[in-house]
Amino acid sequence: MVVTIDTIDTITVVGGGQMGRGIAAVAALAGYETYVNDIDESQLEEAEEQIEWSYEKSVENGAATETEIDEAMDRLTFTSDFEEAAGNTDFVTEAAVEQQAVKEDIFQDLDDVAPEDAILSTNTSGLNITQLAEVTDRPSQVVGTHWFNPPMLMDLVEVIMTEHAPESVGDTTEALIESFDKTPIRCKMDIPSFIVNRLMRPYGEGPAWMVYRGEHSIEEIDSAMKYKEGFPMGPFELADFTGGIQIRVEGEQDHLEDDRPMSYDTEVCPILHQLYDKGRYGRKADAGYYDYDERDEPQISVGEGQGFDTLLVWAPIVNEAAKMVQNDVASVEDVDTGARLGGNWPVGPLEKADEVGADVILEKLTEVASRHEDTNKLAETLPCELLVEKAKNDETFY
Ligand SMILES: NC(=O)c1ccc[n+]([C@@H]2O[C@H](COP(=O)([O-])OP(=O)(O)OC[C@H]3O[C@@H](n4cnc5c(N)ncnc54)[C@H](O)[C@@H]3O)[C@@H](O)[C@H]2O)c1
Repeated sequence: MVVTIDTIDTITVVGGGQMGRGIAAVAALAGYETYVNDIDESQLEEAEEQIEWSYEKSVENGAATETEIDEAMDRLTFTSDFEEAAGNTDFVTEAAVEQQAVKEDIFQDLDDVAPEDAILSTNTSGLNITQLAEVTDRPSQVVGTHWFNPPMLMDLVEVIMTEHAPESVGDTTEALIESFDKTPIRCKMDIPSFIVNRLMRPYGEGPAWMVYRGEHSIEEIDSAMKYKEGFPMGPFELADFTGGIQIRVEGEQDHLEDDRPMSYDTEVCPILHQLYDKGRYGRKADAGYYDYDERDEPQISVGEGQGFDTLLVWAPIVNEAAKMVQNDVASVEDVDTGARLGGNWPVGPLEKADEVGADVILEKLTEVASRHEDTNKLAETLPCELLVEKAKNDETFY
């Protein structure tokens, strides 16, 4: 027997850092007995303080009442005792450090300690979930639950399936996420980057190549994507904000060695390596694509991007979205929901394709691909069959 939404009462979060404490805060507020486990006592103390602080904020902005947050605090237990945290649980979310070996150890321990019917999930940003499932004796009860930061405020959670997990385990996990008042989307296959970061990659990399080749400027593209298209940040501003340069360069080798379906076989744009080698990691290093010495935000003028064709950025993103639909990784609706709720994009890529026409997207994509005939990025920019079909038959995604 595996737990169902009607039998889940107790949640365990392993790893009480930035994400784990946020996930625990959400679960306890939704009415679940919640255990937070960490190997570091000081992290547990901080987690408790920060959850209290975020609950107070919820009261201030009218999202919760004093009584609700008092009850939620009473449902939380912070403990470094692994057996206490996981011995009597129904659903676990692992949110420890992003290292495959650490997570595999935790999953082995969870498999030993957690009740047989419990579902075990991981909040990994991109590690191999199938391998985590396979270190346990219950691979069919292991899924990914990819939350967005900060969990209390972000609505989206990606539910990632492996070949071992049946639909019913995904359904129970989605029902749980909904009971947290969050929106789940289903990534039906364990692929690198899952859905949302899969779309984020061409948003960052496509423009990086344009700048590397001297075709357009950083400010021009950021201005156009922000002010003409309504993205919360342009691709370069976003990369500086999230530390994307460092993440992409340091993760390049892992991505090239990843052998899951839809794994990446193209190298990172050289401009990212050039910045990385100079220590220009982004905002936290006071320098990335922009300099941040005297100000927090880059100054991007509205006028700068007026002449830029934003569809050159959209086309590879739409192509990646269409590839996920074509390979039955995600539904059209889930891809777009992921972009809107996970990236705060003004519109999902497939909605965008319907708005401008698949034929126009195809034309722009062909233009982008032609620029990559001398790079190993060509395969990534070639139009996928589904997009070509839609363009040929004058069809929409919805
Ligand atoms: N930060 C984000 O924006 C974000 C978003 C989505 C997913 N994630 C993923 O969530 C996970 C956690 O990220 P984070 O930003 O909260 O990291 P963090 O460094 O803030 O927290 C990690 C915590 O795990 C604890 N830990 C380490 N080994 C442990 C073990 N064996 N048992 C129990 N606890 C252990 C650490 O003491 C620390 O408190 C990572 O896999 C990360 O990739 C992060």
